[in-house]
Amino acid sequence: MKILVTGGAGYIGSITAAMLMQEGHEVIILDNLETGHQETLDKIMRIAGEFDFIKVDLRDKPKLETALSQVEFDAVIHFAAYIEVGRSVQQPDAFLKNNFEGTKNLVEVITDKGVRKFIFSSTAAVYGHPDQVPIPETAKLKPINPYGESKVKVEKMLQKYADQGKLDSLRLRYFNPAGSYNGQLGELHEPETHLIPLIFKAGKGERDKLFIFGDDYNTKDGTPIRDYIHIMDLVDAHIVALNYLMNKSGSDVFNIGTGKGYTVKEVFETAKQVTGMDIPFEIVERREGDSIELVADPTKINAVLGWQAKYNLHDIIQSAWDFERQK
Ligand code: UFG
Repeated sequence: MKILVTGGAGYIGSITAAMLMQEGHEVIILDNLETGHQETLDKIMRIAGEFDFIKVDLRDKPKLETALSQVEFDAVIHFAAYIEVGRSVQQPDAFLKNNFEGTKNLVEVITDKGVRKFIFSSTAAVYGHPDQVPIPETAKLKPINPYGESKVKVEKMLQKYADQGKLDSLRLRYFNPAGSYNGQLGELHEPETHLIPLIFKAGKGERDKLFIFGDDYNTKDGTPIRDYIHIMDLVDAHIVALNYLMNKSGSDVFNIGTGKGYTVKEVFETAKQVTGMDIPFEIVERREGDSIELVADPTKINAVLGWQAKYNLHDIIQSAWDFERQK
């Protein structure tokens, strides 16, 4: 198949593009290179071979139309988005414009071309502070920041398109992706806000220390709990999902997580073991907007797609460290 991967110069998009190519698919990467990297595109080429690249911004509909009029593809996997929760609170309009209106433009242009298959990168942030954990897909959507709101708006739009018979979609709600592809492709966010890369930076002396945002939560050691998912498990879930979607109509939603939660301190201790470093840290105030516990109930994806996470927290941190060391 020929797949359009938006955000293919970013973390999850680049690894998905490389794996699709290794599975024998043709890939077109679309990215505006605002947060994605040319260097990442070069690496994909070295790892997986040739692909077409379109540099265009989804917010510019006329240019998007022109660019996509020149290519044919069977399905879209849409990663391109702003992802920093903190910035979304400061700049809600920018998030709405890029994440929602950009996606709306993309969906309008591809459906006009007759493309009918769409996989969407959603997030556990749609659940906000959930009423039940592990969280099933049927839990209430009550995002607590504009990032989560922008993803809920897209999910609703995709459901509407499916109800009208215009576009079949799967909405994949990721929990906390981390780790790398063989130490070669991994997280390169600027600024970095995610826990695992920040622990390494503190260990390497690139930051003074790791700030642990609060140890007074009602959990076993007082720090928040997350469901960390290996990037290779996450990418594998996309490939399984794509094959499933090709023979399905309508819109459906899946959590992608392991079902197991770890506290910030457990992640920190595992990272110390993996790296062999003594990493400086300080407990500081809670970070605004953080949920106490976000753990997926993965029963649906296990049963319907037959997908299950293979890697544990130690594997994830080892893989992230392999990438950090070769940077
Ligand atoms: N944390 C720290 N110190 C840091 C960074 C993080 O203590 O320097 C803690 C956070 O408080 C949180 C945990 O580590 O408890 C994980 O934080 P991340 O920033 O790594 O990840 P989040 O769970 O906040 O965010 C992730 C995704 C978002 C998504 C969100 C859903 O990265 O894109 O889950 O809530 F929106």
